[in-house]
Amino acid sequence: MRGETDAMTVRTVWDLPTRLFHWALVLSLVGSFITVELHEMQLHAWFGYAALTLVLFRLLWGVIGSDSARFVRFVRGPGAVLDHLRGLFRREPDRETTHNALGGWAVLALLLVVLAQGTTGLFANDDILFRGPLFPLVGKAWSDRLTTWHYRISDLLLILVALHVAAVVLYRLVLGRDLILPMVTGRKRLPGAVAAPRLASPWLALAALAIAAGVVWAVVTRQVL
Ligand code: HEM
Ligand code: HEM
Repeated sequence: MRGETDAMTVRTVWDLPTRLFHWALVLSLVGSFITVELHEMQLHAWFGYAALTLVLFRLLWGVIGSDSARFVRFVRGPGAVLDHLRGLFRREPDRETTHNALGGWAVLALLLVVLAQGTTGLFANDDILFRGPLFPLVGKAWSDRLTTWHYRISDLLLILVALHVAAVVLYRLVLGRDLILPMVTGRKRLPGAVAAPRLASPWLALAALAIAAGVVWAVVTRQVL
């Protein structure tokens, strides 16, 4: 046991852009839910645009970003998911420098559901005064249908978030694997033989964020569409 502890080392697995993305996404979604409850629709829209910008950024970062942030690294097949579950069962030490094979699918699902939530919102209306910026493209009947989807997808999002948070809490409490602190500090305790992932430049992340914000701005202000 002592040998195993001695061999542990601390490595940076999550870059700053990925961590900032995560906690900013949490804030933007909490903001979206609170503002719609208060019927502050203009603020609701702004939180929604922020969520859309963050997800577009993350999709880009998943292609050009740090190794640990790349989809090709963490979206793995069913065999890898089974291996991961067997490893949990045998209480093997955490060797992951990215999302584990199960978490990878959860991340993809969360990103796509937030994207669908934000996109349907752009066409939605509240039957009173507020209309999403793309309402004129579809008219009232389709806007009503998309508003219904916006409602349904928000339920799905809540379920996914509940599962996501329950999973990371269970990994900590039941399996003793702390995933939360690394999402805050970036650093994780790993067996010494595990190499740290290559981290991309934060400037590249700023460029990706600028592109994402530019796309959302162009869509929302109808420079395109
Ligand atoms: C609105 C609520 C939330 C959403 C939409 C959300 C979404 C996500 C997404 C998209 C990722 C992937 C990060 C990336 O690779 O860029 C992620 C990872 C993660 N989230 Fe959340 N999250 C939420 C709330 C939370 C909360 C409250 C916690 C802490 C209790 C948490 C802990 C984590 C951890 C630890 C990871 C990394 C898991 C791993 O190591 O594989 N999340 N989350
Ligand atoms: C991705 C972020 C978003 C989240 C999490 C979100 C969440 C929600 C939720 C929970 C509701 C209320 C559902 C209910 O009452 O059961 C709602 C309604 C609505 N949202 Fe969003 N939304 C987002 C983005 C947007 C965007 C970008 C727009 C438009 C710019 C928008 C426009 C609307 C409208 C018009 C309604 C209907 C309000 C009503 O019927 O009173 N949403 N949204």
